[in-house]
Amino acid sequence: MIKVSAPGKIHLLGEHAVVYGKPALLTTVDLRVNVILSAAKDLSRMRDTSNKLKKVIEPIVKKYLKIQTIPPYQLNISSQIPIGSGLGSSAAVSASYIAALLSFLKVQWDLNLINDLTFEAEKVFHGNPSGGDNFTVCFGGLVWFRKSDQDRQIKPLNINISPKLSKNFCLINTGTPKESTKKMVENVKELSKKKPKLFKAFLQNQERLTKKMLSAIKKGNEDDLIRIIRTGEKNLESIGVVSPYAASIIKKIEKVGGAAKICGGGGKTKATGVLLAYHQDKKKLTEVAMSYNLPCYTITLGTEGLKQES
Ligand code: MEV
Repeated sequence: MIKVSAPGKIHLLGEHAVVYGKPALLTTVDLRVNVILSAAKDLSRMRDTSNKLKKVIEPIVKKYLKIQTIPPYQLNISSQIPIGSGLGSSAAVSASYIAALLSFLKVQWDLNLINDLTFEAEKVFHGNPSGGDNFTVCFGGLVWFRKSDQDRQIKPLNINISPKLSKNFCLINTGTPKESTKKMVENVKELSKKKPKLFKAFLQNQERLTKKMLSAIKKGNEDDLIRIIRTGEKNLESIGVVSPYAASIIKKIEKVGGAAKICGGGGKTKATGVLLAYHQDKKKLTEVAMSYNLPCYTITLGTEGLKQES
């Protein structure tokens, strides 16, 4: 029996701009996907829990190994990561499944290989992904990701977010957006063509703010962090990836002295997945979430990436 797990991720900042080669700052969260894979005696005994996933993952593995068939196996996936919420569920599931399948086939793997193959799966799911999600769930920790760095096999940043800051983050789940990440990325592409000036300003702001955020995190500067999250959120609103519903929750958090932003692709209609929220007094965040009848959970940031469980 092979067990592999991978964490979810959040974008501290840089989402969408990262598709256009700008940097993004990401980190893992302590919500994990667990994949258990074991040999099955025959095909009829294979439990088809996730057919769609198999249809994506198996061809990628077969192509890489230059093989035609895979012996029968049973697949069991359990996940703490809500699907379609901006927490990188597809990357975490694909990465752990690919790693488990390679182990099952007695193929040695390392994180670089799983990252590369998971990127192929992400392309099927999301059309034109940056590769940031798969990179983060594979390597774990705090990650500075730039699309152009992919080939250089960059490693995560060797720093932790200071507990003074990290203890004040919460996730508020607004629900699964009507629009997929793929659709949101396509919408942004259209906007970039229709409003090139606005889009250029968005990209420049995201880059500047993402760099500032890393510096605020390194210094443990709370005031700067709150300012950057608020400005970063406004910048994301300027490209239409924050629904009026999510914007109203975020405004309420700002009114009580905190900051919040969408996290990942966002949404246009109502739900936008999780909001990353920050406040010195987390009770205030819970109160705002409760006033919208939404769950608010405390998370640990920077947890370990993909790993084979014993
Ligand atoms: C999705 O989690 C984040 C986006 O920037 C898309 C990507 O990076 O592939 C919206």
